[in-house]
Amino acid sequence: MNNSSERIAVIVGGASGIGWASAQALASEGCRVTIADRNADGARERVAELGPAHTAHAVDVTDEDSVARLFDAVGPLDIAVNCAGFSNVGLITDMPAEDFRAVIDVCLNGAFIVTKHAGRHLRRGGSLVQISSLNGRQPAVGMSAYCAAKAGLSMLTQVAALEMGPRGIRVNAVAPGFVHTPLTAAAASVPGVVEDYVGNTALGRAGTPEDIASAVVYLCSPGTSWMTGEVLDLNGGAHLLRYPDVMGHVMKLMEPSS
Ligand SMILES: NC(=O)c1ccc[n+]([C@@H]2O[C@H](COP(=O)([O-])OP(=O)(O)OC[C@H]3O[C@@H](n4cnc5c(N)ncnc54)[C@H](O)[C@@H]3O)[C@@H](O)[C@H]2O)c1
Repeated sequence: MNNSSERIAVIVGGASGIGWASAQALASEGCRVTIADRNADGARERVAELGPAHTAHAVDVTDEDSVARLFDAVGPLDIAVNCAGFSNVGLITDMPAEDFRAVIDVCLNGAFIVTKHAGRHLRRGGSLVQISSLNGRQPAVGMSAYCAAKAGLSMLTQVAALEMGPRGIRVNAVAPGFVHTPLTAAAASVPGVVEDYVGNTALGRAGTPEDIASAVVYLCSPGTSWMTGEVLDLNGGAHLLRYPDVMGHVMKLMEPSS
């Protein structure tokens, strides 16, 4: 850990949703935050909201040179949070291979590239947090690429924890269920999707970005200094039940009304 009280944190994919909530939460914990995102304007706008101690950086996790430049520019750091991700929907038998590859490229290959370059710069006592997903353990019809990528990301987290543990770096993941963010806005607008999710939770509600951000802060805190290689389920108890039939609700919406 940095000996000064100020911890240096990089939030990749920090311009929106879970990443933005995590950036705010870490800044309010006293961290100096770099928001890095493919959406460079969004990152700059968020940093303007956070204040002058913080910085914005353009990055595309599918481009290794841009990720290397980001971490070289930040230098030694204490916290890296990787939130870059997206999904598409389509049955395997209909899906163009490039659509499958596009999701794997951001959610898994991109996570590898972030892990590699963050891992080179994290100081002893540092913490790397990946945002995996409930879909890393719960399959969903129409979400093959996302489910496969997130399952891979959960395993990548465990391997990275083994490799970086001897250097005093912890690597953990949060696996959220359905959280209201710009990423899920389209799915949430399909009648039945949110209700189906919520009906399959123990706690009876969908998540908020702040629910996830508080777990990110927890995983970066001294209180979890003996925790590594953990994939923390954060979903209101949905992993105890079944994933909503997102594709089924979309198909229902597309049926011609009689
Ligand atoms: N919202 C959910 O229900 C949910 C559930 C489980 C997991 N997750 C995961 O949480 C993470 C954050 O999702 P969110 O819901 O906040 O989405 P979001 O779309 O609000 O935010 C994602 C951010 O990542 C950035 N990004 C996307 N591709 C990038 C790239 N190639 N390089 C750099 N930045 C890139 C986007 O510009 C955006 O700012 C994702 O990995 C997502 O898979 C979300």
